[in-house]
Amino acid sequence: MSRYMVTSALPYANGPKHLGHLAGAYLPADIYVRYMRMREQDILFCSGTDEHGVPITIAAEKMGITPLEVVDKYHAIIADDFKRFGISFDNFSRTTRPEHIKFAQSVFLELLEKGHIVPRDMKQLYCPECKRYLPDRYINGTCPKCGSEDARGDQCESCGTWTEPFELIEPRCGICGAIPETRDTRHWFLLLDHFQKWLEGWLGAQSNWKTNVLKYCYSWLGDGLRERAITRDLAWGVPVPLEEAKGKVLYVWFEAVLGYISSTKEYFRKAGRDPEEWKKYWQDPDARLVQFIGKDNIVFHCIIEPSLLHVLGDFILPWNVPANEYLNISGQKFSTSRGTGISMGHYLDHFDPDPMRYALSVNAPENRDSDFSWTEYQSRNNELADVLGNFINRTLKFTASKFDNRVPAAELDMTLFNKTGEAAEEIAELMESFKFKKAIGVAMELAREGNRYFDNAKPWKSLKADPDQCAITVATCLNLCASLAVIFEPFIPFSAKKTRKMLGLEDLKWSDAGTALLKYGHKLGTAEILFKKLEDGFEKIMNKPEEPVEVEREETQVDFEDFMKIEFKVGRILTVEDIKKAKKLYKIEVDTGDKVRTVVAGMKKYYTKDELQGRLVAVVCNLKPAKLCGVVSHGMLMASDGESGVFLLEPGSNAKPGDTIR
Ligand code: 2FM
Ligand code: ZN
Repeated sequence: MSRYMVTSALPYANGPKHLGHLAGAYLPADIYVRYMRMREQDILFCSGTDEHGVPITIAAEKMGITPLEVVDKYHAIIADDFKRFGISFDNFSRTTRPEHIKFAQSVFLELLEKGHIVPRDMKQLYCPECKRYLPDRYINGTCPKCGSEDARGDQCESCGTWTEPFELIEPRCGICGAIPETRDTRHWFLLLDHFQKWLEGWLGAQSNWKTNVLKYCYSWLGDGLRERAITRDLAWGVPVPLEEAKGKVLYVWFEAVLGYISSTKEYFRKAGRDPEEWKKYWQDPDARLVQFIGKDNIVFHCIIEPSLLHVLGDFILPWNVPANEYLNISGQKFSTSRGTGISMGHYLDHFDPDPMRYALSVNAPENRDSDFSWTEYQSRNNELADVLGNFINRTLKFTASKFDNRVPAAELDMTLFNKTGEAAEEIAELMESFKFKKAIGVAMELAREGNRYFDNAKPWKSLKADPDQCAITVATCLNLCASLAVIFEPFIPFSAKKTRKMLGLEDLKWSDAGTALLKYGHKLGTAEILFKKLEDGFEKIMNKPEEPVEVEREETQVDFEDFMKIEFKVGRILTVEDIKKAKKLYKIEVDTGDKVRTVVAGMKKYYTKDELQGRLVAVVCNLKPAKLCGVVSHGMLMASDGESGVFLLEPGSNAKPGDTIR
């Protein structure tokens, strides 16, 4: 057994993440991790939000809120969206946590002491109109390497080059477009050239890495590594731990790549385990570090991070960095800010996670950019329904109606069954070499094979003509369903779990695929439809623009008189009903003493109807009525809303409906 440390790029907590992010660094990592867990490997999967740097301060300025409010808000949203998509992180941390800040500062000091970081007096771009320094994304201009006119002061998204603001051709202020001036300042530089030789040797030995990843690295090394400023004049970030650097912060990338280690440390601390145990995953030479990222992150994970880990000593280096290319949408870049993206949350508000997990696995941007379209999604969804869903459903339905929902007594048909074992082995090999796209193809082919087998064997005929043969067909198909539940689990875990339930099986291991899991007499569960087919035009429901991001303002103060205008009362919930087409809302009748009022509340995700029925609640009674999904709401239930979840406020048990809340 090997030990694996798996990471996914830390997404910036500057807005909701879209399907392009999911396909790039999170879904493939989750598929790999779920597979490895089923292989009973010792594996840990950590990530978290990247909460510093100019991407955050720009978002804060645009929204008119503080950087802290931005990251609090989006950390919660991003973490929840990943959870709903089934991305099974062991820990999802934040780079604003003190543990991370302390660690990043200690790494800076260690490199400074070892002579790999030095201060330099330098010129910095300054906008005379905005009266501020312009680090990173506050500068736009032409990329010195590929000529793209969209390059920013930190990176060119087109070619992935790490740029310095003053290297951009024709730089302009990213906020007002003015031509910047230069001013004197002092920054600390990482002397990357120290690592050129060592990196050439180390990267040269990674012959099993993806060629696109190595190509980037060699192009970097070919240009010759130069020193890079790793501090910034910004008010938001990890403070540079030096008296003379007051007001300066670490460059976000310098600390973000260390966030994986901080997240692992946090995992063990939170789990109440030995706080030194993280070292087993980061410092034991037998552990393998696998880092999932998008291609724009290659330089940071294959050049910067290894250099830092190398200097720190003791640490393992990436064992593989299977970076993906981009997922485009109808030929355009996915970008929520430019209105061409579909955020994970927006998708999940309308559809189930698994069809998208499947569509993005089949269409993964593994070796080249791939394109997402709703037509493609529809055909993948329908393929799931017609092939996998259909096979499982027809097998189970037939068993229920003809064999009393039990596995019949029969030998298995080994021609089909041997194919199952072979497919499981082939998929395993593909998974271990990060070829998930091919792997899912093999899995679906096996489900197709199942349908062909069922069609040819015609159990509905053999039932009378040759009952023994019919029993063989059914027992074989049922066991193939069980193997499919194993093989598909890393890709579509929610449906695999449902399938296991329908088959009356508990958690399965990878080695269960291709074995006779369902024995004679085993009682099956109830068959359910796994996937719903989608008709043309189904996506219209998604075309409604995404909810505009709420702009939260600075704390405003309210006069006592104004506060007293709000009528807060104790209420008791009488009835709770679903609202057609509303995934999150309930229609609730509440007795507030004076009358019974109808309230529409977004509680479906947090409470079952039974949990609500009869409960005492705090109600805002005199809100202006509002229509939500066709139902008029005459009030609001008070609840807390935070990282820990949503909880209704509860008046003491002696309170009565109609009592005033003050
Ligand atoms: O590109 C991004 O979204 C970065 N926040 C990724 C950081 S990955 C790691 F280094 F933290
Ligand atoms: Zn400006």
